[in-house]
Amino acid sequence: MSIENVAVIGAGTMGAGIAQVCAQTGWNTTLYDAYPESLERGMQRINAFWEKGILKGKTSQEQKQIWSSKLQSTSDLSDAVSQSDLVIEAVPEIMELKRKLFSEIDAMTSGILATNTSSLSIQSIAEATSRPQEVIGMHFFNPVPIMELLELVKHDLCSSETIDFAQKAGAEMGKTTILVNDIPGFATSRLGVVLGNEAIRMLADGVANAEDIDKAMTLGYRHPMGPLRLTDLVGLDVRRDILLNLKESFGDERYMPHPLLEEMISKGMLGKKSGKGFFEWD
Ligand SMILES: NC(=O)c1ccc[n+]([C@@H]2O[C@H](COP(=O)([O-])OP(=O)(O)OC[C@H]3O[C@@H](n4cnc5c(N)ncnc54)[C@H](O)[C@@H]3O)[C@@H](O)[C@H]2O)c1
Repeated sequence: MSIENVAVIGAGTMGAGIAQVCAQTGWNTTLYDAYPESLERGMQRINAFWEKGILKGKTSQEQKQIWSSKLQSTSDLSDAVSQSDLVIEAVPEIMELKRKLFSEIDAMTSGILATNTSSLSIQSIAEATSRPQEVIGMHFFNPVPIMELLELVKHDLCSSETIDFAQKAGAEMGKTTILVNDIPGFATSRLGVVLGNEAIRMLADGVANAEDIDKAMTLGYRHPMGPLRLTDLVGLDVRRDILLNLKESFGDERYMPHPLLEEMISKGMLGKKSGKGFFEWD
């Protein structure tokens, strides 16, 4: 089945990036968010990304117009999804929120349903619908327009047609896909959050300052970005939610968010999206 219309649910860090890439792929893309100011901010971020591309000579005004014509926003969930061949959900990492949303969307569209969850059981989300075989994990990386990987997560009830569909969709979006089983944290988040949490513990223990802990990994281990800067980029709240989900799923204290992470979140230091985390952001 070919894709013409796509809906993206949630216009935050990930949803805006996913909608941008869908529009650039040439799909009619509708971005939805439950909060009008978040929707507005998401659309502005996409526009700013394209404007920056023009300034840097990476894209043209004409190209931007073509992409813009493929992208629209709505604050009506049914409008967003009713004609969609594919719906990609990117709302906060809370199981009940995602299950409720999937049960609502299920009745509004016959399109394939995908979740961008970083750590939650895809099957539990799928079972909130009447057709779990058509639900799959499509885990994108931040920033979506730049990162090459798309982690596809299949669960026991997922049909081979749905997997094929998602693999083709990923290829059309210019992503390299990997296929992973539905084990919480998949092949990426599970390692990523443990590294980040340990770096936070090292910062709290006074091993070194944030800059130097990150440099140890970028210069000593050739990581493209240090674990604290990456935590800022992902969002401290997002990483805390992933850790808590893994702690609950595996019943393992190793995933307990470090108290410094909780303290920073309670002060509104969420990383790049709030302007301050382990580092200052413009
Ligand atoms: N941030 C990352 O680097 C990253 C990477 C991969 C996957 N993820 C996953 O993507 C998902 C979204 O993360 P994010 O970083 O974009 O979060 P975010 O907080 O930046 O954005 C979430 C958006 O969802 C909206 N929202 C809240 N409730 C909603 C509802 N009921 N219906 C529609 N919209 C609603 C919010 O207004 C907000 O705009 C999470 O599952 C997260 O684990 C995040």
